[in-house]
Amino acid sequence: MGATSAVEDRVVWVTGASSGIGEALAVELSALGAKVVLSARRRDDLERVAARCASETLVRPLDLADMDDADRHVAAVLDRFGHVDVLVNNGGVSQRSLAVDTPLSVDRQLMEVDFFGQVALTKAVLPHLMERGDGHIVAVSSLTGRVGIPLRSAYSAAKHAIHGFFDTLRLELSRSGIAVTIVCPPNVRTSISANAITASGEPYSAMDRIQERGMASEQCARRIARALRRRPRELHIGAPVRAIVLFDRLLPGLLFRLLRRQRTFV
Ligand SMILES: NC(=O)c1ccc[n+]([C@@H]2O[C@H](COP(=O)([O-])OP(=O)(O)OC[C@H]3O[C@@H](n4cnc5c(N)ncnc54)[C@H](OP(=O)(O)O)[C@@H]3O)[C@@H](O)[C@H]2O)c1
Repeated sequence: MGATSAVEDRVVWVTGASSGIGEALAVELSALGAKVVLSARRRDDLERVAARCASETLVRPLDLADMDDADRHVAAVLDRFGHVDVLVNNGGVSQRSLAVDTPLSVDRQLMEVDFFGQVALTKAVLPHLMERGDGHIVAVSSLTGRVGIPLRSAYSAAKHAIHGFFDTLRLELSRSGIAVTIVCPPNVRTSISANAITASGEPYSAMDRIQERGMASEQCARRIARALRRRPRELHIGAPVRAIVLFDRLLPGLLFRLLRRQRTFV
């Protein structure tokens, strides 16, 4: 089965579709024939991305920090397309501040967007997927969902929580026909560091060097799109992510010492 047949005419809902990995994924999936629901806060950017898409799209703005109305968003998508095949929980915000400097309010803000936002939308879509006995839920995590990286304590906590929640959900759904995939992208050249929250709650507003040298968002998106066919348990994109996860499993003490020696994490 080719990648095209995996998503052709399927309804794929992508959050964080207004920039970066989500934008590239929406464009890639639409080129493969998927009908794409585009969600994030910035309507203008969602409209811009929709204009780049080759297939039918629905722009559905939402704020992952305020998902009390998640059911209303799902109802709007079902009203338009009749069903959802795939939900890609990709929207998120990173962090650039030491734990000691970061007020609890900022920690909570990161958990709200990066963890509860994904959980809320997933729970709202789930009854529909279970009724159909089919579907695929994708949760975009990070290497920081596996390994703590300085300046990202609450972001890393939220991404670790993603693994706990979606690993459990996968088991609970194992006889339901619904697959759950967790994606750990590498450093990808996006606005993630510029949009990252600092201790003051303001954005960091700079492109990290590690981000600048990262993978192109289009390449990352192609890897995620391909995974929609295989529906793997977990997708680690790129050799550095695979190596660090393996290292952490086998030699956690050594990884700690190596990371401690590293001078910069931006
Ligand atoms: N780039 C990397 O190196 C990297 C590495 C590992 C994991 N990731 C993960 O990949 C995902 C996408 O990040 P990216 O690199 O593409 O960064 P990005 O360019 O900053 O995109 C983030 C997306 O999330 C949306 N978003 C942020 N806060 C939101 C909120 N409160 N409600 C709804 N949408 C919100 C943004 O849209 P609006 O501003 O319009 O809301 C934007 O579309 C994130 O989950 C991130 O943690 C990225």
